[in-house]
Amino acid sequence: MDGLMHRTAAFSLILLLCACQGRALADTKAALRVIRDQCVGCHKPGKAKGGLLLTTAEKMMQGGDSGTPVKPGKAAESLLYQLCLAEGDPHMPPKKQLAAAELAALKAWIDAGAAWDAAVFDEPPAPRQVKLSTLPAAHQPVLAMALSPDEKLLAVARANTVLLVDLAQPARPVIGSLEGQMEPVPSLAWSRDGRWLVSGGFQKLSIWDAGTRQPARVISQGLVGNVSALVCDASGKAIFAADGESGGAGFIRQFDMTSGTLLATWKAHDDNVLSLRLSAKGDRLLSAGADKMARVWDAASLKLVAALEGHTNHITAAAFNQDATQVATAGADREVKVWDVASREQDAVLGDKKVAFAGIDWTPDGKTLAVITDKGACSLHTDLKKHEGTQRSEASKERKLPAAGEALTCVVITGDSKWVFAGSFEGNVHVWDAADGKLAGRLELSPAPAEKAAPAAK
Ligand code: HEC
Repeated sequence: MDGLMHRTAAFSLILLLCACQGRALADTKAALRVIRDQCVGCHKPGKAKGGLLLTTAEKMMQGGDSGTPVKPGKAAESLLYQLCLAEGDPHMPPKKQLAAAELAALKAWIDAGAAWDAAVFDEPPAPRQVKLSTLPAAHQPVLAMALSPDEKLLAVARANTVLLVDLAQPARPVIGSLEGQMEPVPSLAWSRDGRWLVSGGFQKLSIWDAGTRQPARVISQGLVGNVSALVCDASGKAIFAADGESGGAGFIRQFDMTSGTLLATWKAHDDNVLSLRLSAKGDRLLSAGADKMARVWDAASLKLVAALEGHTNHITAAAFNQDATQVATAGADREVKVWDVASREQDAVLGDKKVAFAGIDWTPDGKTLAVITDKGACSLHTDLKKHEGTQRSEASKERKLPAAGEALTCVVITGDSKWVFAGSFEGNVHVWDAADGKLAGRLELSPAPAEKAAPAAK
């Protein structure tokens, strides 16, 4: 049993960050970590304060408005060090004094010749100690859903619980739940044989036996933030999990499903990864994130196959078509894009540019693309055409479904294109009958504590 797992009706997450103060290390990595963590935020491309970039050795030596800030071998004569001293003017970092150990690391590094080590900038941050505690019970968002491979069960992550909804029964009742996690569940994935359900958490993920609904294993090795996206590989042997500190680089980790061993870890995005998918054949991994990028990876070699660049804001979700020749991305920039993986070109741009898209799902046969917005709208796109200078409205046949009236977070469409499910921040799952285009209602989830006192109006 994992000692961290406690059942609480109300929950949530307050991060009490324990300071992990570095020791006074007089080496290159230690100094560059100070620059990475304390300086780069204001001295990076797009935000070069004082004209100075501190992201590569070359840029640093090019200097800013006042010239080269580092004289290798002479810290006392280097502006970069002088400005960090208590009397520095302008003082760096502007509203803060570096710890003595950090200053010492910078000094020793410059005195030793200011060598560079680019690898420091791709390092995953170390996990921080956190304490989880409870927040208002009214906060019960549905943050993730996953359809079982046989499409009989819909797993719904609501707050800190995963509800299992039986789609084979007409009433779609909740027939079980996975309980015990304290913090919200931001991500969910089924193994392809339907035996295991994997749920994300904070600095951990849990593998549940879908039959007994008990946790089989909790994995936390190396995880630094929320596990924001998850997918199981095709062999059933490994899990891909995305994590990262909030606003920090997005990492993908590969874990062995049975032993929990960390098999691989790589920096996949410059900001948090918000979506992970595996192609139907299992040979391609798709990641997309807050750095506006979508990337396709070889699921075996983990090498980058394609980088899809064109969104101007977060990509909230992404999906493959049936043979992974195309990728669809939903953006906070109010656009849905369909990409050709081989050419990396945009085949189509969908959406009317009015609202941010929050989720996307593509039927396994590639026929129907379901998209949702954070204003409660849901639409289905079929007959996707290649964009050839034509109007947006001609890029696909779009069917707008009646609005849910709540901010939506995630969407699932069944393989036969008949049913669409969308989760909301309020904790509901809305159901549309795609055949007649009607809102069929909501799933009867067990009431959230807040609803018991004041039943939600239908
Ligand atoms: C919150 C933003 C911020 C952070 C963090 C920050 N700086 Fe700066 N930095 C600035 C600004 C703004 C200027 C320009 C100040 C001015 O010209 O008055 C500047 C200027 C500088 C300059 C002078 C550049 C030139 O050529 O004029 C150096 C050197 C420098 N920073 C080093 C650092 C170092 C080293 C750190 C980390 C220990 C750091 N900065 C962290 C905002 C920041």
